[in-house]
Amino acid sequence: MRLRQTRYLFTMTWQPPKLEDLRDRRLRYVRISVTDRCQFRCPYCRPEQGDTPCEPQADYLTAAELARVVKVLTTLGIRTVRFTGGEPLLRRDLTSIIQAVHAVGIDDMAITTNAALLTSTRAKNLAEAGLKRINISLDTLDPNRFKTLSGGAPIDPVLRGIEAVRDAGIKLKTNTVVVRGQNERELEQIANYVWSLGGIPRFIEVMPMGAGKDLNMVPAAEIMNSFELTPERPEALNQKGIGPADYWIHQGRKDQVLGVIAATTRNFCSSCNRIRITATGSVRPCLASACGTELRPLLRDPTTNDQDLIEAIYTALAIKPDGHRFSEGIAGELPMRSLGG
Ligand code: GTP
Ligand code: 5AD
Ligand code: SF4
Repeated sequence: MRLRQTRYLFTMTWQPPKLEDLRDRRLRYVRISVTDRCQFRCPYCRPEQGDTPCEPQADYLTAAELARVVKVLTTLGIRTVRFTGGEPLLRRDLTSIIQAVHAVGIDDMAITTNAALLTSTRAKNLAEAGLKRINISLDTLDPNRFKTLSGGAPIDPVLRGIEAVRDAGIKLKTNTVVVRGQNERELEQIANYVWSLGGIPRFIEVMPMGAGKDLNMVPAAEIMNSFELTPERPEALNQKGIGPADYWIHQGRKDQVLGVIAATTRNFCSSCNRIRITATGSVRPCLASACGTELRPLLRDPTTNDQDLIEAIYTALAIKPDGHRFSEGIAGELPMRSLGG
């Protein structure tokens, strides 16, 4: 069995095997949630009613612990790190985290944020620390609807944050979760705004994760009807299989690329190249499942070494599920803000 073979490799030759789960999906990309807190209340993630408590902040992995985990992951083949939340900019030490992770040899670093705290100074500092790409949630451009969808936050700091990304020379994509009865008539307007800033708008089917299961999903096919689309060469934007989005160009114009994430109706789990680490150091091999292993006790025990971390990561991979079953109405097990999407 695979885990025993891995142990044998450690003891005999100490050549760390590359990260492959038991169905030979090669894992290249780690999504690290740095906090499960968020100041927004998006209806598909943190509604007013029914939210679960957050983890104690003392349990969040520190910049040094995160750098150690990522260093181990690089020896196993991980090449991309995306920091998520909750809201990652709530971590005042996010720039230090990014510096520390850059220093262990990761060049492709990204964050996913609501951008409300993204001042131009912060965007410049993040870029200097090595951040290459930012994905920003943008569900509406209407100030009143924005307040409703965010639990009362104003839109202006978010729009300033989006402009700060452009000014800092960081690659920009936006995420619009399309919810029937809320924003499905705004898609072209959002796309035009993002294109005007040189970014790539993406439109996402709501997933039945957490509160998302109570919302009315608009399928990708219907989202795409808002545009005149021809396929974009995927290699122009992403390496094959690197992400869940399909990219298209609108009206044949190269400056009007958009992404559609059919997270519910198109199951892309067979090419999944991701693992996740939660803010408190749990390894989660799948977005849709609560299974995994714990790194924090190992990181905080001075007697453990990197091989122990590798073994915990492999144990999580050994139980990576085949994939989600969202289209059958089977919901994800953990709240989105603790898994970081
Ligand atoms: P890049 O491809 O690196 O730009 O990142 P991304 O698009 O995967 O990241 P982002 O955090 O912007 O997520 C966009 C949407 O894709 C969110 O709704 C995520 O929940 C969803 N998503 C990201 N990874 C996965 C995945 O492994 N499985 C599923 N089902 N959805 C995912
Ligand atoms: N379905 C689809 N996307 C979601 N996100 C959060 N919850 C859901 C859901 N239930 C998106 C957010 C954010 C990204 C990390 O995940 O819009 O951009
Ligand atoms: Fe916060 Fe993102 Fe969840 Fe919205 S989707 S409540 S911005 S973590």
